[in-house]
Amino acid sequence: MKKIQCYSLYKLQLVIAVSILSICCSKEHSTSLDTSAKDSTGISDSTQQIVESKSDRFFLYEERQGQDVYIKYCVVCHGVEGKGDGFNAFNLDPRPRDFTDSTFLANHSDETIIRAITDGGTAVKKSQYMPSWGGTLSSEEIENVIAYIKMFSRSKEAKTPTN
Ligand code: HEC
Repeated sequence: MKKIQCYSLYKLQLVIAVSILSICCSKEHSTSLDTSAKDSTGISDSTQQIVESKSDRFFLYEERQGQDVYIKYCVVCHGVEGKGDGFNAFNLDPRPRDFTDSTFLANHSDETIIRAITDGGTAVKKSQYMPSWGGTLSSEEIENVIAYIKMFSRSKEAKTPTN
């Protein structure tokens, strides 16, 4: 009689142990889900910050499209903030164009900018290290990316020049 009681007690303990374990596991599972959810929001938050730091207004459609092109193809040399300080820039002499320099837009017609992007630096007597993008980007993508790079100097207009 005593032996049977002991056995069923053991069984009960086992059941409790298993259920505690499964609760723990499921908790752990949901926490890891939570973190991944947080991570993805974190990324979009930081993109949002970049967007906000450049302009105090919302992006126009072409500027947003242009931003995608810029991040994909141009950011490695021209930098996240358009200062010509992308991680690849330090290998290059002359350095990639600094788009935050307000003289950039003043001295460059849209035509020249389009030609530089489509046919590369040499087409406008600039560095050969500026690649040509005519074979990669459509003319619409080029127009969009120009709309985007123009924002770099616009958002800096009110600030004092650094050099
Ligand atoms: C491999 C590095 C590199 C990449 C990638 C790159 N550029 Fe450049 N870019 C340069 C360099 C170097 C210059 C030349 C600076 C100079 O000669 O004063 C330049 C110059 C320019 C100029 C100015 C030309 C002028 O007349 O002054 C524009 C506009 C430009 N880049 C746009 C872009 C766009 C848009 C992209 C992406 C589609 C891009 N660049 C990608 C390196 C790069």
